[in-house]
Amino acid sequence: MDPVTWRLGDLTVNRIGFGAMRLPQQGTAFDPQARPRDRAQAIEVLRTAVELGVNHVDTAAFYFSATRSANELINSALSPYPDDLVITTKVGPSRTPQGEWLPLATPEQLRGQVEENLRQLGRDHLDVVNLRVSGLDDVSAHFEQLAGLRQEGLVRHLGLSNVRPHHLDQAQRIAPVVCVQNSYGLGHHPDQDDFLGVCGERGVAFVPFFALAGANKEAGTSAEDDEVTAIAAAHGATPAQVRLAWTLARGPHVLVIPGTGDPGHLRQNVQAGELVLTPEELTRLDALHLNGN
Ligand SMILES: NC(=O)c1ccc[n+]([C@@H]2O[C@H](COP(=O)([O-])OP(=O)(O)OC[C@H]3O[C@@H](n4cnc5c(N)ncnc54)[C@H](OP(=O)(O)O)[C@@H]3O)[C@@H](O)[C@H]2O)c1
Repeated sequence: MDPVTWRLGDLTVNRIGFGAMRLPQQGTAFDPQARPRDRAQAIEVLRTAVELGVNHVDTAAFYFSATRSANELINSALSPYPDDLVITTKVGPSRTPQGEWLPLATPEQLRGQVEENLRQLGRDHLDVVNLRVSGLDDVSAHFEQLAGLRQEGLVRHLGLSNVRPHHLDQAQRIAPVVCVQNSYGLGHHPDQDDFLGVCGERGVAFVPFFALAGANKEAGTSAEDDEVTAIAAAHGATPAQVRLAWTLARGPHVLVIPGTGDPGHLRQNVQAGELVLTPEELTRLDALHLNGN
């Protein structure tokens, strides 16, 4: 069985983490009409995640709804932070206080974004910062800025998000890269398979987002595939657990960060780490994946 942990630089994380994007609101993230989530429920989910052994939480300063901020909820729920907790945040995108998206940060603006995360999380340094790219062919100037902030001690480790292999080459020429966070899951972006392999060969964690929601960006919006449902039934598991187990089986360097505001789903997601799919089941799911179900 694959190990349950992976190292992000000198930090060890359990391979089943938690994504905080869903916490500030009910329903779709970034929907200006979305109802802010009940505060007590969000805090309960975060504390329960840590109690269940989650020690890798993914967040961003731009994860907020009208009256809730993912970073503030994490701070309120979890600080003083457990020593082994790794909080990964991302910079590049940003939103106005009203929630409208702004253009990608310039390299010079990244310092302010790192400092914003420090203020909101109440920390003196950030464990992992991903440069989240969109529309950039060359990440070097941005990554050099982050490498400088790492040298200053504001950031411990650096990663990339929404990138292609040549971006990883560019960044690794500047500073160590501990993780790549891209959209990927069973039947979702099989074109990422090779890149996932490259990351493994280089010892870089591959951290998919939308491993459950897939292309719909929302779980439960389309009928679950029969194959996934059948395999889940054979194990007394749920389809979401099968999706997470298949994703983890892609390699020991693959970490998942399922997002949920539902304590029951959270427990299921953590338990997915105990679900071992047979070689025959993995072959069936691999075929489904390549067909882009
Ligand atoms: N780097 C990037 O550009 C980027 C982009 C998007 C997201 N992210 C990160 O990746 C994380 C994961 O993405 P995501 O939250 O959008 O998608 P996801 O984890 O693939 O799926 C979340 C959806 O699945 C549902 N769900 C979760 N656990 C479930 C379960 N056990 N059974 C059934 N449904 C379940 C959630 O609803 P319930 O709340 O009802 O459980 C929610 O609708 C985010 O939280 C964020 O931290 C990064």
